Amino acid sequence: MALPPSDALVFFGATGDLAYKKIFPALQGMVKRGHLDVPVIGVAKAGWDLDRLKERARESLEQHGGIDAAAFEKLLSLLHYIDGDYADPATFEALRRELGEAKHPTHYLAIPPKLFGLVVDQLAKSGCARDARIIVEKPFGRDLASARELNKTLLRAFNESSIFRIDHYLGKGPVQNLLYFRFANSFLEPIWNRNYIESVQITMAENFGVEGRGAFYEEAGAIRDVVQNHLFQILSIIAMEPPVEDDDESVRDEKVKVIKAIPPLNPQNVVRGQFRGYRDEKGVAPGSQVETFASLKLEVHSWRWHGVPFFIRAGKQMPVTCAEVLVTLKRPPASSHTISSTANYVRFRLSPDIAIAIGTMTLQPGDESVGRPVELLASHRPHGDEMDAYERLLGDAMKGDQSLFAREDYVEAAWKVVAPILHGTTPLFEYEPHTWGPEEADRLFGGGWHNPSNPA
Ligand code: BG6
Repeated sequence: MALPPSDALVFFGATGDLAYKKIFPALQGMVKRGHLDVPVIGVAKAGWDLDRLKERARESLEQHGGIDAAAFEKLLSLLHYIDGDYADPATFEALRRELGEAKHPTHYLAIPPKLFGLVVDQLAKSGCARDARIIVEKPFGRDLASARELNKTLLRAFNESSIFRIDHYLGKGPVQNLLYFRFANSFLEPIWNRNYIESVQITMAENFGVEGRGAFYEEAGAIRDVVQNHLFQILSIIAMEPPVEDDDESVRDEKVKVIKAIPPLNPQNVVRGQFRGYRDEKGVAPGSQVETFASLKLEVHSWRWHGVPFFIRAGKQMPVTCAEVLVTLKRPPASSHTISSTANYVRFRLSPDIAIAIGTMTLQPGDESVGRPVELLASHRPHGDEMDAYERLLGDAMKGDQSLFAREDYVEAAWKVVAPILHGTTPLFEYEPHTWGPEEADRLFGGGWHNPSNPA
């Protein structure tokens, strides 16, 4: 059943890092496009008042995207603030009063996962959960058991159609384009299988560290922070079958099938790394065994993909910041023409710039005896006016559109895949900042990682 549009947005964690980096810019964008005209209630425990929150919104926008005077003024007029402890029922009584006439509020939990249960129970007890919906940040749980537990907690107060499990990668234009590109073009389908494809690599590199989020990161690590969610979502789009219909559930059905076809990871196919200096970060334990880099090899046991290795790599303090997929094709059979050829490939650059490239071989102009690799490239540099992932997803949740959110069966299947490597029992290798991670990662792939450069 379609949900009615939401008539208030409540965001918990209003004074936090996520709000600062992503949510205020998204809210201003929504106002600017005419997509947000309801009360926005920030909640946090910081000893702040509304003026301080407005100040924070200004600082956030100055740093992230810039202020649009008219939209910003309007956003300020929509903003409310409640300061209080999440364990204190008075905080939620105040929220109930602040919600006033709103009948279908959206509650967004931009807070540490360990507080989700507490806040949900308080929302239920105070009546704030009635006819409301909830957006939950990733990672959804810490493993399969805790994800199931969290789901049970949410279901005590909300039904599945009112639960929005956010993975902001799904809201990114280039990630949506990946899905579109696969199924809107007929030339790809005949080669998109184990007969033609040699391997798939997915890299998410960041040239910065944990940026003051040490305490959060200690609870997560690269596998929980980005592999189990963002990178698996990309993998499932690359590997999925065409959806039987164009609706949200059909797309989500196909993605789940991909993740279910991946056997639990063999710890021998995983290399974890930690950048030198991580343990000096605020909030990080001196002997921390948390990985800031992970590379893994897995297989999708389906007719389409049997035998094709998928390599995934994510790391902090890498030489560049970018997310990229490289699908490498098998080489042509050897002949005098092809002996020196490099394999064809399809490369999808997802961020920071956007590109789709096809790697080919052509003859060197002026020397018809020599071949050379040539990339056919379509690229796009995002400009400030494009909708950002958080803006798209918050807007969709307010409209009641679930298509770009993770379904519970998907989240559970993804936890099952990473279960054998979640408990830090595989070795942890140190690497120098601004390198491509520990050398051991090359072992997984025989030195064949493609290291993206900037720009695409
Ligand atoms: C978040 C992770 O989900 O994604 C961060 O928690 C990571 O560690 C971020 O830096 C990357 O997202 P984006 O959109 O900024 O590339």
